Amino acid sequence: MADYNFDVLVIGSGPGGYVAAIRAAQLGLKTACAESRETLGGTCLNVGCIPSKAMLHASELFGEAATGKLAKLGVKLGSVELDLGAMHAQRREAVKGLTGGIEYLFKKNKVEWLKGHAKFTGKDTVDVAGKTVRAKNIIIATGSSVTPLPGVEIDEDVVVSSTGALELAKVPEKMVVIGGGVIGLELGSVWSRLGAKVTVVEFLDQILPGMDGEIRKEANKIFKKQGLEFKLSTKVTAVKVDGGKATLTVEPAAGGAAETIEADAVLVSIGRKPNTDGLNLEAAGLSVNKRGQIEIDHDFATPVPGIWAIGDVVPGPMLAHKAEDEGIAVAENIAGLTGIVNHDVIPSVVYTTPEIAGVGLTEEAAKEKGAIKVGKFPMAGNSRAKTNHEPDGFVKVIADAETDRVLGVWIITSVAGTMIAQAAQAMEFGATSEDIAYTCHAHPTHSEAIKEAAMAVLGKPIHI
Ligand code: FAD
Ligand code: NAI
Repeated sequence: MADYNFDVLVIGSGPGGYVAAIRAAQLGLKTACAESRETLGGTCLNVGCIPSKAMLHASELFGEAATGKLAKLGVKLGSVELDLGAMHAQRREAVKGLTGGIEYLFKKNKVEWLKGHAKFTGKDTVDVAGKTVRAKNIIIATGSSVTPLPGVEIDEDVVVSSTGALELAKVPEKMVVIGGGVIGLELGSVWSRLGAKVTVVEFLDQILPGMDGEIRKEANKIFKKQGLEFKLSTKVTAVKVDGGKATLTVEPAAGGAAETIEADAVLVSIGRKPNTDGLNLEAAGLSVNKRGQIEIDHDFATPVPGIWAIGDVVPGPMLAHKAEDEGIAVAENIAGLTGIVNHDVIPSVVYTTPEIAGVGLTEEAAKEKGAIKVGKFPMAGNSRAKTNHEPDGFVKVIADAETDRVLGVWIITSVAGTMIAQAAQAMEFGATSEDIAYTCHAHPTHSEAIKEAAMAVLGKPIHI
């Protein structure tokens, strides 16, 4: 340790970085974390998972009151008014509480926060805001930022990224969302519930790429019923802003006649790219692959001994819980333990209403690998969903035709994000569909639909 300032220096304090730093410190390693943002917690806590969920929750309650959904349950409210200022304030409060919580955890675990931008000056040295830090191990956890659309300038006023879309000072009359992925649908839903007319322009022929095909179709149907308009197989070729209004030029993805759409706000949500600019990776002898990611091995080690990488900056889904699990595993590997993440079982959730969740293989991907059995159960047959007036959606369980081992589970219903944990745990333990079908599930719960879908794999559900 003589010449080193730290055993571990983590660059970036997002869900990957802060978790890695805390775990490393818990394991007795002298740890620091460099963060250039004013507050800890990265994209997720500051401008991602947390503020988006604060707006999704509040706008959902507003929508339930404003559209008369609550009145139908016997909850009469008189006139319903939106106080957007208060809604933004509770979002900021949620972010402040949680980012402050990480600062507290750093102090508690004796992780030193080095404030400022970090860049490599050698294989084991980093410059943080003018100060040289030498560490035995360096974990790159610098996350990701919005992918720009060529020729479209994000001014965070009329043309916004997800960060600007969380902060809009008034509800736009018309909003165009470029990209029908997770961010577009979550934040498009927020502003649609608050009164905006939202049009989603998606390059592909269906929304939510990467998810199960039937789930994508069902989600599209439900969002249309909620008033979102979709222009699928369509590309945006230009966005012009004049006097606070945007004019978008769109045309069929395959080419064809162009048309224009007017909007008061445009959200660019066509994906995110790894953050490596300004890290001076060359000084450490590192480079990026053609997708801009830092390549790692199974242990999260880069090709340069002592340098590790996790989270959005490495290949794999850009998800906070994936980054967190990698943070724990990399710290354990550095400490000489065996840190493992099972990348085949990473759940993903879209926090719309209803929620959309999946884990493991889609039906399409599973079919490509071999013979499968599929069991489906509609939420319309689930007593709790029916009682709560939530007839939309279904659960799908995909199992290996020969071994019955569960390969994937897909869910659309109000609490799908909570339900998917059961499926992930079952898959982690190598469960069969029969194991799930013969597990007692509490009644009346939405989770019973997972049991019934598993029973459907074996061909014997009860309630349909
Ligand atoms: P990040 O959280 O991006 O953190 C990286 C940190 O490193 C940043 O704070 C950055 O300032 C800092 N940094 C970068 N370079 C340097 C440098 N050179 N020196 C010092 N500091 C540096 N995922 C989910 O699982 N669930 C969700 O509900 C969800 N919602 C999202 C909503 C939105 C609107 C967005 C944009 C993303 C959402 N995500 C969600 C994705 C999630 O935020 C990311 O997957 C996650 O934050 C990745 O964690 P990370 O630690 O890899 O990086
Ligand atoms: P995304 O990859 O989910 O969706 C981008 C969409 O834009 C795709 O459907 C793609 O086909 C489309 N697209 C790409 N180029 C286009 C173009 N030129 N014109 C029209 N459409 C185009 O990316 P998104 O929504 O920006 O989110 C980024 C990341 O953030 C995701 O990978 C996701 O993992 C993460 N995230 C996770 C959340 C969650 O877990 N609930 C919430 C929000 C973000």
